[in-house]
Amino acid sequence: MTVHIPAPEDPSDKPARTRIEFRHQLQDDKELPTVRHLVNLFDENKKPIPTADNLPDKKKWSWTDFWPDLPEGAPIEVEIGAGKGNFMVEYALKRPELRFVGIEIEPKYAKYGGSRLFRNHVPNAVSLRGDAFLFLRDYVPENSVSAFHMYQPDPWPKERQRRRRLLRPEFLDALFRAAKPGNETLFYWSTDFKEYDERAQEMFAETPFLELVQSDAPPTWGIMTNFEKKYRLEGRPIYRSVVRFLK
Ligand SMILES: C[S@@+](CC[C@H](N)C(=O)[O-])C[C@H]1O[C@@H](n2cnc3c(N)ncnc32)[C@H](O)[C@@H]1O
Repeated sequence: MTVHIPAPEDPSDKPARTRIEFRHQLQDDKELPTVRHLVNLFDENKKPIPTADNLPDKKKWSWTDFWPDLPEGAPIEVEIGAGKGNFMVEYALKRPELRFVGIEIEPKYAKYGGSRLFRNHVPNAVSLRGDAFLFLRDYVPENSVSAFHMYQPDPWPKERQRRRRLLRPEFLDALFRAAKPGNETLFYWSTDFKEYDERAQEMFAETPFLELVQSDAPPTWGIMTNFEKKYRLEGRPIYRSVVRFLK
């Protein structure tokens, strides 16, 4: 009797899993001038409309769509995962010379951040509800951002969840594309999750266009985010660093 032993599976035989690319659009908020929405477009059956070729839905878009009076050369900075927006509000008030966008995927937090901007009369910041990766990859003009801020991103601590983390090579590529040239564009990073920081430091060191400027950095302009305040009260350490784009 012959026993059939199946050949070991060659991983290269598996079709690559491609994520579906949907068409999206930037919209104003109906109530708050400080809020914008990056939304998927839906068909009459309420299904998101895929792009024809499954390629990114690149948009011709300019920062003057957020600030029609944008002065030539005004620095633009972006916060990724702005949460309830307290860094955005304090920082934008302290730095009136720049324009600031806090991107937050959770509608209720993005609205909350936007209402704080409105109540505090912050003229130079926008709260954008949407996926930071899509906005940076598909909308933000090349060579236009002076700094990126990413504080306490969701750590996705379990091994099987880690691919959901925002900080990954394709995300860094999107930041690089958007970063201003001149070797001065900074990426401010912090997390309370040691293993995420270790992975981040490895990624920074392996990425040829990044250079570590400061480890054990203090809070940017002395401002702590909502989560950082909470974690410090709980006695958790915060791992912070600043890297720079070589461009
Ligand atoms: C742990 S919270 C930290 C919030 C804030 N940075 C702080 O330190 O208080 C992480 C935030 O990132 C947001 N987020 C997760 N994925 C995102 C994405 N793809 N684009 C924008 N925001 C995202 C989450 O909704 C959440 O509000």
